[in-house]
Amino acid sequence: MDPVRNPYAPGAGQRPPELAGRDRELDVFDVVLERVARGRPERSLVLTGLRGVGKTVLLNALRSQAIGRLWGTGKIEARPDQSLRRPVAAALHMAVRELAPRHRAPDRIDDFLGVLKAFALRANQANAKLRDRWQPGIDVPPKSGRADSGDIEIDLVELFTDAAAVATDVGTGIALFIDEMQDVPADDVSALCAACHELSQLGAPLIVVGAGLPHLPAVLSAAKSYSERLFRYQRIDRLDRIAADQALCAPAEREEVEYEPKALDLLYDKSGGYPYFVQAYGKATWDHAPRTPITAGDVRVAAPEAEAELAVGFFGSRFERATPAEREYMRAMAGLAANGTDDMDIAVATADVAQSLGRRPASLSPARDALIKKGLIYSGERGTVAFTVPHFGRYLRTQP
Ligand SMILES: Nc1ncnc2c1ncn2[C@@H]1O[C@H](COP(=O)(O)OP(=O)(O)OP(=O)(O)O)[C@@H](O)[C@H]1O
Ligand SMILES: [Mg+2]
Repeated sequence: MDPVRNPYAPGAGQRPPELAGRDRELDVFDVVLERVARGRPERSLVLTGLRGVGKTVLLNALRSQAIGRLWGTGKIEARPDQSLRRPVAAALHMAVRELAPRHRAPDRIDDFLGVLKAFALRANQANAKLRDRWQPGIDVPPKSGRADSGDIEIDLVELFTDAAAVATDVGTGIALFIDEMQDVPADDVSALCAACHELSQLGAPLIVVGAGLPHLPAVLSAAKSYSERLFRYQRIDRLDRIAADQALCAPAEREEVEYEPKALDLLYDKSGGYPYFVQAYGKATWDHAPRTPITAGDVRVAAPEAEAELAVGFFGSRFERATPAEREYMRAMAGLAANGTDDMDIAVATADVAQSLGRRPASLSPARDALIKKGLIYSGERGTVAFTVPHFGRYLRTQP
């Protein structure tokens, strides 16, 4: 069928033609927004899940929901070893600019921007040369004495409190979205938790909405033991059969294209309901099918192409980020992770990985830690590791 009209969108953070199976999360967030705006106690939301399940896409949808309620919003994508100070400053700048036109007292906005600038300027080393100093793009003079102590915990609490006050003035709130939250450096995670804790006690309308890999709750509770009560964790998982069918059929229907039931059976079998795979198989099938309705035969013809594309774009690109020692570690993991019945991957004990490589566990810690930092594996439970990428073990087992 006409590839130009192909509606499917495999890709990182690519908005799907149909956001299937996420109604519960969207509804929960509606309630959160309403409660926070009314000063009711509410926990921040944290989405966790494997690679390609749709965390970024859902985070963007939640952001649209907040914007729809006239909230100020900003988004950050955390990176390992990058302090939160600059990105938080940029995101809050954006959020407050969204609120500014509705604020009756422009000097209150300028006051806040002055505090924000002082906060941001602290990102510069005290002894940095003038030309090396980073200048935040905020057109007001910095206002010293608030959010500029240099202690990120104190500064975030003060900055968030002031930002929330601006939102209170206009009767809405501010939502700060943090993607890849497991990569936020330890001190900053701890400061972020403390700031959220303080704000929720004050009933101030500013919330942090995070998304990250499955071990994100462990990262947060290592930073502050109370984080379990601070955040509402929502596991984002693969789509069930009904949602996966909807993800395929709804966009096709808009193009007056249908699927035979057997085609949908086979597509679910192939994708396992993982959103990225649903899009990838859907796209290839569309391109190969000569006409509507799409048949199981069309899926069978298209599958090798979808698999070849996944092998390069989804699996291969990640595998290549690993060093030879790390690859060896993952291959050993893949061998152990095979679950006989459906060839899905399960978590494996690090001690078993060491044994299968004939090495002492301690000697493998650098490779394991580097793989965790690269976001390729995670440790959900002490002493075990699992792939962050669905079907990754299966992919490695088919590689020579
Ligand atoms: N609810 C959904 N229904 C249909 N397709 C979806 C859904 N959610 C995500 N997708 C599709 O899945 C793919 C992956 O989505 P996304 O990039 O948001 O995943 P992710 O969890 O952020 O992955 P990563 O951990 O690699 O960042 C995209 O192509 C997107 O269009
Ligand atoms: Mg993402």
